[in-house]
Amino acid sequence: MILTAENIHKSYRMGHAELRILRGAGLAVGDGESLAVIGMSGAGKSTLLHILGGLDRPQQGRVMLGEDDVYAISSRRQTRMRATQVGFVFQSYHLLPEMDVLENVMLPGMALRHWDGKTLRERGRELLQAVGLAERQGHRPVELSGGEQQRVALARALMNHPRLVLADEPTGNLDEETGRQVLDYLFSLTRKEGHAMVLVTHDRRTAARCDRVMKLQDGLLVPA
Ligand SMILES: Nc1ncnc2c1ncn2[C@@H]1O[C@H](COP(=O)(O)OP(=O)(O)OP(=O)(O)O)[C@@H](O)[C@H]1O
Ligand SMILES: [Mg+2]
Repeated sequence: MILTAENIHKSYRMGHAELRILRGAGLAVGDGESLAVIGMSGAGKSTLLHILGGLDRPQQGRVMLGEDDVYAISSRRQTRMRATQVGFVFQSYHLLPEMDVLENVMLPGMALRHWDGKTLRERGRELLQAVGLAERQGHRPVELSGGEQQRVALARALMNHPRLVLADEPTGNLDEETGRQVLDYLFSLTRKEGHAMVLVTHDRRTAARCDRVMKLQDGLLVPA
């Protein structure tokens, strides 16, 4: 297993009340496997994804990414783990507007400081080629359509050869046809490079493209 989460509990304080979002959720994802997580709005899907990626500590439970116990390692190792093992894709792209497309893709690699500029550039170009945007590398994100911006975000997520891709409604802002095209790129890239993936989606048809589907319901993950 590349990723396991056991007995995850997460609640938020609302004044005197406690909002219990996750109540013992668990999952396991094998190397190269894709898992879709569906569930109603507010069920806790984004919360779960952040917890899986080391971005939000649960009150209880354990997340293992490979051999790393995500919330037991030092914060330095945790930062490094996020940079090297996990690629995030969000609904709203999160590209840096002042950088061009290639720089956006290269960014996670720059943070690692173990590749020289040429290697970074080559990897960035290879990924832009793979998402059909080789010709747009010098453009600013605002000059691209939503679907194109999301393809840049996919390329950026894969820059450091992560073992795991976490995608939160990656087609939520796109029309159906563009969304399907972005998913085609996402699935073909994750298959080619052998990444495991957890994909959060509202859409059953999108979910069905993953190897497995689970539903987040009443704070638990159940087979869907
Ligand atoms: N920082 C926070 N403080 C308080 N409540 C929060 C916080 N973050 C999330 N919540 C609440 O937790 C619940 C789950 O939120 P989450 O964003 O995980 O849902 P979701 O399943 O991703 O929904 P959607 O499908 O709409 O994206 C919501 O009721 C939300 O209001
Ligand atoms: Mg969400």
